[in-house]
Amino acid sequence: MSIQDNFRLAMRRYIYSVSIMSNKDENGDPNAITVSSVTSISMDPPSLLICINKSSRIHDTLKIDSKFCINLLNKNQEGLSNICSDEDRYEERFKDDNWDIEQIPYLRNAQANIFCKVDKLTSYHTHTIVVGLVKDANYSNDISTLTYVDGEYR
Ligand SMILES: Cc1cc2nc3c(=O)[nH]c(=O)nc-3n(C[C@H](O)[C@H](O)[C@H](O)COP(=O)(O)O)c2cc1C
Repeated sequence: MSIQDNFRLAMRRYIYSVSIMSNKDENGDPNAITVSSVTSISMDPPSLLICINKSSRIHDTLKIDSKFCINLLNKNQEGLSNICSDEDRYEERFKDDNWDIEQIPYLRNAQANIFCKVDKLTSYHTHTIVVGLVKDANYSNDISTLTYVDGEYR
């Protein structure tokens, strides 16, 4: 087995929380992508990072100072996670009634919404590490986070 195969199988043992990153592009059109690479960095300043594949549609819309939201999904949002991670279902991404797309698109019924501004973009081979400066955050009181382990939702 290659190093990549062993690494992939090792990483499949992690339990991931599933989020959807959402924003608007320069024309005001909304984008959404399923992500598991969200990690908090610090509280001062409040900041997080996400690793975004350069081949994804949202990638080139992520400019310094542009705004985005990280929507932490709950257990009944597996369907939306599948839609936002399937390049053939791009047209379905904003059909869900729970999207508010007036300003920065966000999901009203997510476990949490973390509103950010892009503070730093670091290219690393196939991916860009996006550092977000947190501008606002809210959360639901019940905890029912959608998780992903070994390639499956749990
Ligand atoms: C659970 C899960 C987590 C994912 N996490 C990431 C991630 O952190 N970064 C990323 O670039 N793609 C991630 N993906 C893959 C993208 O969601 C997928 O490739 C998507 O179709 C790319 O967006 P596009 O179709 O708009 O180009 C993840 C997919 C799943 C199912």
